[in-house]
Amino acid sequence: MRVLVTGAAGRVGANVVRRLVEADVAVTAMVLPGDRQAAKLAPLTGVRVIEADLGDQAAVDAACAGATHIVHLAAQLVRGDTPVDRFYDINAFGTLRLLEGALRTNGGIERFVLASTDGTYRPGDPPAVPLREDAPQEPADYYGTSKLLGEVILRNHAAQFDIPYSMVRFATVVSPEEAAGYFRLDSARAMLRRADLGRDSNIWQLFRGRPDLLPILDTAAGDAPPDAAVGLVGPDGHSWSLHMVDVRDAVQGVHLALTEPDALGGVFNIAAAEPTTWEHGAAVLAELFDVPKLSVAMPFDWRLEVTVDAARERLGYQPRYDFRATVQEARATASGVAADFIPARV
Ligand SMILES: NC(=O)c1ccc[n+]([C@@H]2O[C@H](COP(=O)([O-])OP(=O)(O)OC[C@H]3O[C@@H](n4cnc5c(N)ncnc54)[C@H](O)[C@@H]3O)[C@@H](O)[C@H]2O)c1
Repeated sequence: MRVLVTGAAGRVGANVVRRLVEADVAVTAMVLPGDRQAAKLAPLTGVRVIEADLGDQAAVDAACAGATHIVHLAAQLVRGDTPVDRFYDINAFGTLRLLEGALRTNGGIERFVLASTDGTYRPGDPPAVPLREDAPQEPADYYGTSKLLGEVILRNHAAQFDIPYSMVRFATVVSPEEAAGYFRLDSARAMLRRADLGRDSNIWQLFRGRPDLLPILDTAAGDAPPDAAVGLVGPDGHSWSLHMVDVRDAVQGVHLALTEPDALGGVFNIAAAEPTTWEHGAAVLAELFDVPKLSVAMPFDWRLEVTVDAARERLGYQPRYDFRATVQEARATASGVAADFIPARV
């Protein structure tokens, strides 16, 4: 088995490379040219690091040479200033270039694993709670749409050229040191400000026609400190929810999708066992960090919850971390306990 991992310097990618190296698998780690995060890979022995941009077919072809398996994690994630066409060029056409590279250089990949996202369902206003893999996919933002196009391109190419594949749809992937930044007043403000940018915002459609939420949050917060914990609650008293997955569980999901015979042709939600409600997340932060906790009444409900039954039943996936465990892990690591993960950023 010779595995090409794209996005190898990323939050998930570096940890997937590490998992494979520990299992004595030969890995080629593809990184974006000039990405300083590639320094994460330096301590991992025996990894062949290759620079290639998913926009460059010749470089992608060179990265694919000799691979028997491909784990495709590279993607344009949501950043404030990302131009629209970049989402499509990297997440849709970049996936096509990688598939072409795999066909051209080897003529036979044994498995192609694609990382997709629960953002391909409709975040906030989902067609079902919880979402199964066969739920309608109607993303209403550029990122989710581009990732869905990547899925469609893979399915079509796989059927056309007999490429064995599997897909994982991650929930929000969190590295332990990032977890305590969720469910805070400042991060809630940042999210609502992005929605407030109108048509310039990637997520504007998700909030379209809904009341202006920032003043509601600011009024309720008063002079609470920016690191106060915040639970957002809908009109029916149900807390807003977010489904997360600890990066170590995400790695487990990728590894199963890569190695399990039953993963072939399948798509699997990869998430924590349960979603995290904002109220629960805020209560955990208030307890562990001794910060004030607010509950803020919102004029509508917002939920994003998936089921991992398919991954459990077909792959033996066993998520090990909930939000509390992830935050506690970060605290333990900060106080000198050795980490069993590579942090998102070095
Ligand atoms: N982070 C999440 O919450 C989340 C949720 C659902 C799905 N996903 C998916 O999981 C995968 C891994 O995400 P992550 O959290 O590790 O993201 P990340 O941003 O940490 O890593 C993505 C990597 O892709 C690389 N990349 C970007 N553009 C590239 C290009 N043009 N050519 C080559 N490489 C390029 C980046 O340099 C980066 O190292 C992605 O496919 C993402 O869409 C992530």
